[in-house]
This record gives sequence, structure tokens and C-alpha cells, in this order.
Amino acid sequence: MSSSKLVHMAVALLTAVVIVSSQAAEAASQRAFFVFGDSLVDSGNNNYLATTARADYPPFGIDFPFTHQPTGRFSNGLNFPDIISESMRLEPTLPYLNPELNGQKLLNGANFASAGIGILNDTGIQFVNILKISRQLELFHEYQQRVGEMIGAAQAQQLVKNALVLITLGGNDFINNYFLPTISLRRQQYSLPDYCRYLVSEYQKILMKLHDLGARRVLVTGIGPLGCVPAELAYSLSKNGECVAEPQRATAMFNNELFQMLLGLNKEIGSDTFIAANAFDMNMDIIIKPQEFGFVTSKVACCGQGLYNGIGTCTVFSSLCSNRNEYVFWDSFHPTERANRIIVQQLMTASTKYMNPMNLSTIMALDANL
Ligand SMILES: *[C@@H]1O[C@H](CO)[C@@H](O)[C@H](O)[C@H]1NC(C)=O
Ligand SMILES: *[C@@H]1O[C@H](CO)[C@@H](O)[C@H](O)[C@H]1NC(C)=O
Repeated sequence: MSSSKLVHMAVALLTAVVIVSSQAAEAASQRAFFVFGDSLVDSGNNNYLATTARADYPPFGIDFPFTHQPTGRFSNGLNFPDIISESMRLEPTLPYLNPELNGQKLLNGANFASAGIGILNDTGIQFVNILKISRQLELFHEYQQRVGEMIGAAQAQQLVKNALVLITLGGNDFINNYFLPTISLRRQQYSLPDYCRYLVSEYQKILMKLHDLGARRVLVTGIGPLGCVPAELAYSLSKNGECVAEPQRATAMFNNELFQMLLGLNKEIGSDTFIAANAFDMNMDIIIKPQEFGFVTSKVACCGQGLYNGIGTCTVFSSLCSNRNEYVFWDSFHPTERANRIIVQQLMTASTKYMNPMNLSTIMALDANL
């Protein structure tokens, strides 16, 4: 190699070092975003796992910005964490298992969510190899060690402290556990109120673990109206699209218990760390009056088969609607990008009726002054 080439290389290396260290200095002021939970927020971790709970094939992603390709998101396009990132002018958060998530990109945060999981370890066992919530928290710890090696442990801690954390959990503990059509052990073991109390007591341990790991702004979404998803309408043979009573009751009971628990946790900690998002009411507004939001239907899924297009999963063989913006539901369980956008609008600006103790706009304004 000629000496001039060596000099060029040295200059290039030096520039790289300078850039990396100046970016490390910025890391603490830049807000990161961490995501935990299930398929509503999984951005593709399950693509890297041997599981059937995946969305990495067409027509998932048919409206994904620019590529129109599947990504592992359970939607036609963006999921709601993506839109939160967009609203906060953050880089989209990559799945933690994506090998592209390294170096500088780690400072934007990470998405640890995995489709199929629940609060309980026995939820989603049929999907075999998924990241249970305890595993997601272990990986968050590993993440912090990796970032600590890059920018120093104190800076890494600061990054997590300033970050926004989102957790969406619990729907599968009903759909893929308590309400499974085959006999559920949990159903034999617990009455519905007792099951809700048990779930929330386990959820509390998970949230305390997040707090122990340094999270200080945690958006906790309650579960949406499970009795109104096309799958439920189809399997319960709903006549005119009426939502199914028992899962609706379960969701309301769970959310109520959850929101009480969050109030208690904040009191115990002495700060507004946990923010409750009432996903049930936000979704019901849209489901009850889809036309007011510009949708044609909130009963029939865009991609699926059978009654309400709600049977089974969305595949390349499914019946697929032509205009996804007219549908609240993309598939038998998951919203379209357009429905996700309306939900995020609510997260940002809703009153304390839906966002307690405050909405995301207020959080951003508050934390900007830290
Ligand atoms: C779930 O599994 C994890 C890891 O094995 C364990 O730490 C946790 O206590 C389990 N949770 C319950 C509710 O059994
Ligand atoms: C957010 O919440 C606050 C407090 O409830 C409210 O005053 C405000 O109008 C809401 N919306 C926005 C955009 O801040």
C-alpha cells in the first residue's frame, strides 16, 4: 500500500473517531424510544425466530412506505409505535434482533416486542419460540450493557432515563390463553375477575422490573376491545356485527384493574412514571362510528377469509380489500395503518379521560425542559 493511501486511511479513521465521540456526547440529549409487548407493537423481531407468529410475507406491508414490502409488522403499513416515532420526530425504532441495529443506531432505542406473547409465561406457548416478556427485559439489560460499552455506563443510564418507553401487553392472555376455544387450564383455574386480578398483579412485577432497569417514562396501553375484533365476530357468529359480550367484559375488567394499579405504582414511586392509555375507549370511538373517521367498516377485516373476513390469518390466498384506508381492521386482530394514525393522534392530544395523568404532547413539552 502506498504511503499516501495510508495517510488517507488514517484521516478517514480519525474522522470516524471524531464523529462517533461527538455523537456519543449528543446521546444524552437525544431521546430514545423503547418498545415492549406483543404483535400490536412488534416491528419484526419474530422474523428472526422459529415461530409461526409472523408477518413477514405478503400481503403484510402492502402499503409500507416506499417499499410496499412485508417487514414483520402486523399491519398493511406502519404500526402505532412507528407513528409515535414519527410524531416525536424520532428515527423509527428497529427490532432488537435485527442485525442492522448496532453502533450509532442503538442510541435511538430498540423494539423488543414479539408477536404472540402475554403477561403470563404460558400465553402463546403454541407459537413455540417467541420473546416472552421476561426475555424482552433481559435483552433490554443486554442492550444497556452494549450501549454502556459505547458511550459509558453513566451516559447509557441517562439515555434510558430520558427515553420514552411503550408497553402493550395483555390481549394475548385472553385471546391466546383464557378464551382459547380448546379447554384452557387458566379458565378452569380462575373466574374472570380473579384472572384479571392475577394478570394485573403479574403485570405490576413486569413494570417494576422496567423501573428497576431505569425506565422513567412508560406509556402503558390497556387492551383494546377484544370482543369487537373480526376474529371474535366470526367465531362467535355475530349476527349484525355486534361485539361479543364476554371478551368485552373481560377487557373492561382488566383495564380497570390495570389503571388502578398504575395509579398506585406512581404513588409508591412518587412520580408520574407510568402513563395509562385507554386503548379500549379510543378504539371503541372508531368502532362504533367508523364513518365519522372516514372508514367504510369496522366489522370486516381487509385481509382474511370467511365471516367478517375474520377466520384464520392473513395470507397471500386471503381475500384482500382494495382500499385499506376504508377499513379499521387490517386482519382478524390488527388495525390498519390509518386506524393506527387515529390512535396515535389520541395518544398525543387526548384529555385525561383517555390519557392519564397526561398525553404525549404534554410529556414531550415537560421532558424537553428537563
Ligand atoms: C416466567 O418465567 C420467567 C423466566 O423463567 C420467571 O422469572 C418468571 O417468574 C415467570 N413468571 C411466572 C408468573 O411464573
Ligand atoms: C394534552 O393534555 C393537556 C392536559 O390534559 C391538555 O390541556 C391539552 O389540551 C392536551 N393536548 C395537547 C395537544 O397538549
